[in-house]
Amino acid sequence: MQQNINILQVNGLSKYFGGLAAVSNCTLNIKKGSITGIIGPNGSGKTTLFNLIAGNLKPNQGKVLFNNDDITGVPAYELFSKGILRTFQIAHEFTNLTVLENLMMVPGNQTGEKLMNVLISSKIIKSEEEEIKNKALEVAEFLKLKHLSNELAGNLSGGQKKLLELGRTMMVDANLVLLDEVGAGVNRALLKDLGTAILRLNKERGYTFCMIEHDMDFISRMCDPVIVMSEGSVLFEGTSDEVKKNEKVIDSYLGRGNK
Ligand SMILES: Nc1ncnc2c1ncn2[C@@H]1O[C@H](COP(=O)(O)OP(=O)(O)OP(=O)(O)O)[C@@H](O)[C@H]1O
Ligand SMILES: [Mg+2]
Repeated sequence: MQQNINILQVNGLSKYFGGLAAVSNCTLNIKKGSITGIIGPNGSGKTTLFNLIAGNLKPNQGKVLFNNDDITGVPAYELFSKGILRTFQIAHEFTNLTVLENLMMVPGNQTGEKLMNVLISSKIIKSEEEEIKNKALEVAEFLKLKHLSNELAGNLSGGQKKLLELGRTMMVDANLVLLDEVGAGVNRALLKDLGTAILRLNKERGYTFCMIEHDMDFISRMCDPVIVMSEGSVLFEGTSDEVKKNEKVIDSYLGRGNK
């Protein structure tokens, strides 16, 4: 892990919805190669922060830097090509497409998307499609979804849909992946697989992850550091053990039972 390089810097970021500051003067850094956890009470601004980083919303104030480049307000599709990918708290699968087709939808710049090319180079398109299909099968296998390759995504369980969301981030070369409660609603066995998949992507492919989760056991297994948000900004940052012991965190989020 390249512990000391910041892949992402968030400086004084704020987002208002009417009178409400969903994110309020928030400052934090994500280290390259880390799996950083984000926790905090419902409504503390975690998803809004992701929306601001990933270009789904524009901030009212503050800056976001990716590898020292200012990406504040850059739209999601441009960030996608820089390798910043995210999953959504509510899965965004195409219900009427199969698992494989959902995965194959992801890579951009396919030659077959341009009509002229369809007319003149069907051979190239065929081999491109074949390549993408093979990649999709590889991803499905990695996530233990291969047996469901031809199943409509709408028929998957909640947990399997989350795996498919993660799979979509594996179809391109990601640098930074933002996971919004990817473990929520996923059963224990699947959560273990999901965790292992994330750890492997981190180690073997060098993905940096930033993950919002509520499950402290999962966070403890996966994340270092853990950032605690409260009322739109950072309340505390530390290892999961430090987080669990911190009085402010216990009072605002964990409660005494989790100590
Ligand atoms: N599009 C929006 N319009 C108005 N208010 C919003 C919008 N999105 C979020 N909010 C408000 O901003 C605050 C932060 O919401 P956000 O979804 O970021 O919280 P969260 O930490 O992700 O919560 P949870 O753990 O429940 O997912 C909440 O009060 C929420 O109601
Ligand atoms: Mg949320």
